[in-house]
Amino acid sequence: MLLLMLASAAAFPLDSVRRPLIIGHRGASGHRPEHTIESYRLAAEMGADFIEPDLVSTKDGVLIARHENEIGGTTDAADRFPDRKTTKIIDGKLVTGWFTEDFTLAEIRTLRARERLAFRSHAYDGQFQIPTFDEVIVLAQEFGKRLGRPVGIYPETKHPTYFRGIGLPLEERLLASLDAHGWNTRDAPVFIQSFESGNLRDLRTKTRVRLIQLGATAAMFDDAGLKAIASYADGIGAEKSLVVPVGADAATDLVTRAHAAGLLVHVWTLRADKEFLPAVYAGKPEAEFERFRDLGVDGIFTDFPDIGVRALAR
Ligand code: G3P
Ligand code: CA
Repeated sequence: MLLLMLASAAAFPLDSVRRPLIIGHRGASGHRPEHTIESYRLAAEMGADFIEPDLVSTKDGVLIARHENEIGGTTDAADRFPDRKTTKIIDGKLVTGWFTEDFTLAEIRTLRARERLAFRSHAYDGQFQIPTFDEVIVLAQEFGKRLGRPVGIYPETKHPTYFRGIGLPLEERLLASLDAHGWNTRDAPVFIQSFESGNLRDLRTKTRVRLIQLGATAAMFDDAGLKAIASYADGIGAEKSLVVPVGADAATDLVTRAHAAGLLVHVWTLRADKEFLPAVYAGKPEAEFERFRDLGVDGIFTDFPDIGVRALAR
């Protein structure tokens, strides 16, 4: 693990974590509708080191937690605002649905979350609100005090170029929220992640918070790519098959090469559902966590932080 080798690690309040960080992906989204306070709270209670809000903007410029700006699939927006349905081009793709940038925060407050995946429990559909980023920070800080250990946040900017293009940029408000809560510092338990590199490069000039470059292709993380990423980011967030290819016996050398470039390696996303768990783990999701731990990754995104914490405590 590279985490403890960072030059500034002494000030990092998570430096007592002697295993890969467990990152509650959209909270404990295997158990509750994703990106709700109830999902984040459960992740913290289960032992997650970080909770992960994906961030998009409302019409009035408030950052809220949703995986994408189209919210028809994860809320009851279609029932409450049927006339708000529209079609847009988002990052080059035609998308039809209901979009956060067409709703004020007051309107978003009237919505209730729904489970995205048909094969997961829908017992909590219609119960939980959509949280703002500020509310997620407050929750993490309160849980940190209550549990006597850091509970960090791992915000991801979603569609950052698109949002800047429509006059609702994410990054300045993200940093303003971190500032307001005292977490825009190098030793705060915060990672900012993005699939885009332009906004991370710009953020590097504006904050010392740790930055993670997400990627899902091997080309992005070849040696030249890693060298370039190391000039502005602290680590990579890699789709897990870039480390353990599906159906292959051997792992790749990505962890070794990224560490050699001075980069942390976090992988996404470990899920226990039979619909997601690779066959090689024979129905034992704990085995997947152990596999990535043994390969030396520094952090693991998971929808099931309970299973991750339990597996890595062994
Ligand atoms: O942010 C890491 C991982 O969550 C990226 O995938 O699509 O779930 O945001 P996504
Ligand atoms: Ca994410």
